[in-house]
Amino acid sequence: MRANRARQSNRGGKALQRRPEAATSFYWAKDLTIKSKLAGRAVAESATEMVEIVLPNDANPLGNILGGRVMHLIDIAGGIAAFRHARSPVVTVAVDHLDFLYPIRVGELVVLHALITRAFRTSLEVEVKVYREDYLTGKRQQTSSAFVTYVALDPAGKPREIPPLIPRTVEEKRRYREAQGRRRRRLALSARAHRQYFEKS
Ligand SMILES: CC(C)(COP(=O)(O)OP(=O)(O)OC[C@H]1O[C@@H](n2cnc3c(N)ncnc32)[C@H](O)[C@@H]1OP(=O)(O)O)[C@@H](O)C(=O)NCCC(=O)NCCS
Repeated sequence: MRANRARQSNRGGKALQRRPEAATSFYWAKDLTIKSKLAGRAVAESATEMVEIVLPNDANPLGNILGGRVMHLIDIAGGIAAFRHARSPVVTVAVDHLDFLYPIRVGELVVLHALITRAFRTSLEVEVKVYREDYLTGKRQQTSSAFVTYVALDPAGKPREIPPLIPRTVEEKRRYREAQGRRRRRLALSARAHRQYFEKS
């Protein structure tokens, strides 16, 4: 009811706004309503770009970066975006499907872009895109894309509530909507994997 009123009062407006007087706040736009006790944060507040040069120690005998090293960098870039949003320690709980489309050679730059797509209650999804860049020409090519889920922890190591994400642009809102479907599929897959492949503890 309250959310409906809020939505109606903002019919023409594009940006999400907050009802400052409410104990539980509603953020609203034409097509989204987000409910939280915590103040929301914009995507840009945690967006992260990380750049590394591929050194011989990172590479396989062919002179290409090791897949495991790319996974490590994805986790670091995604983790930085996640704790910038949560402003608390986070742990990685899930990594979705990951492809390595092109090799990244020793001497090339690895550029990682990490964006929060959606914050849930204690967890959030980060999209990390990986590019190789020739530092002489500046030419960039995307080599991987991954969705990583992190959980924020309180000082006792228990999952803690995090601020909602406030998507503003059309792209941010698209990513926000799609994240819900990915979460549903991820949790279903994870439950199935736990039943099939994990030993009972
Ligand atoms: C992350 C961890 C604290 C979650 O503990 P838990 O008992 O499952 O906690 P909950 O059931 O309350 O789940 C917490 C959140 O994680 C999410 N979650 C749990 N398993 C998930 C999975 N496989 N994929 C995506 N999200 C998951 C839940 O949906 C919930 O999110 P929400 O609050 O936004 O809805 C616990 O699994 C852990 O400590 N894992 C190890 C993390 C770690 O050390 N990572 C580094 C590599 S080992």
